[in-house]
Amino acid sequence: MSYLETNIIVAKRIKITNHLADLGIDNVRKEIIEGLNAGQKYISSKFFYDEKGSKLFEDITQLPEYYPTRTEKSILKEIAPKLMSGLKNTDVVELGSGDCSKITILLSAVPEENLESIQYVPVDVSRSAINESAQQLVEKFPELSINGLVLDFITQLDLIPRKRKRLFLFLGSTLGNFTKSVASNFMVNLSRNMNAGDSFVLGLDLVKPIEILHKAYNDSRGVTADFNKNILNALNNIVETNFNIVDFEHDAFFNKEKSRIEMHLIAKKDVVVTSPYFEKKILIRKGENIHTENSNKYSIERIQQLAEITGLKIKNVLLM
Ligand code: SAH
Ligand code: AVI
Repeated sequence: MSYLETNIIVAKRIKITNHLADLGIDNVRKEIIEGLNAGQKYISSKFFYDEKGSKLFEDITQLPEYYPTRTEKSILKEIAPKLMSGLKNTDVVELGSGDCSKITILLSAVPEENLESIQYVPVDVSRSAINESAQQLVEKFPELSINGLVLDFITQLDLIPRKRKRLFLFLGSTLGNFTKSVASNFMVNLSRNMNAGDSFVLGLDLVKPIEILHKAYNDSRGVTADFNKNILNALNNIVETNFNIVDFEHDAFFNKEKSRIEMHLIAKKDVVVTSPYFEKKILIRKGENIHTENSNKYSIERIQQLAEITGLKIKNVLLM
């Protein structure tokens, strides 16, 4: 399990370092247990992304209802020539990198002779996602060097190398999965970590009509439901709980007041959760829910406010 390993994988032009063990497995387990014992039970959305969860997320990105991925890819195609054609001697750091489809669009716009001077730094809590993405990228771009970092970007941002010029990418509206205060702190930390001359491309989903939002998180094939429920399997691996996903129902709705999609898992019957790491069993009553994700939908004003608190200057806003 990746929270316990400190492996370094070195292949031709690929290095992947797993820093998750530095977090201490006891702290990770404590975080999970705290959430399950809270008045409103919750599980951090970072636990979605075990190997199966990362695959399910990739499936979500292909769904007709899930508009964010294809929309952002169109924007990336548009900005790629300007952003990438002059890029040299730079680390391209992608936070929450997931699969390689978005970075492929950007790297395809780098002139071949410049690729050797570029290092791609995928940063993700999902080791399997980084592994797969790296293997595919070296096939496509044999001149590229890859330095993958398996870490938690909320608490381990300082582990990202800062010797060279960096282009940070934070795409897919993953910042939208943070609460307001976590998003502000994250932006402040990142801007402090940035050196003069570094730049940052942030992809955020804007608020839109409720029907479009609702469908995107309640797809007809039930892939989002599977993704949501799989977080319980991830917990079974980390804290050896006895969750059975069939005991839970997927629930996703737009909370208008907070401008966010919320995902929950609702117990279909009374469930008694056990784990060797619990002080006592946890009872989840029929109808009670576990909050698994927020997906904040931004307004331009809120994005500007975020930029202001960091001192970063917005150079360009592209809407689609
Ligand atoms: N950027 C990709 C993937 C988005 S899914 C895209 O736009 O399609 C969110 C990604 O962030 C996942 O790959 C997940 O593993 C990663 N992630 C979520 N929480 C994280 C955390 N705390 N630290 C590091 N990576 C995280
Ligand atoms: C990764 N993140 C921005 C996705 C989102 O839309 O909030 C995760 C997701 N959850 C359900 N579907 C997709």
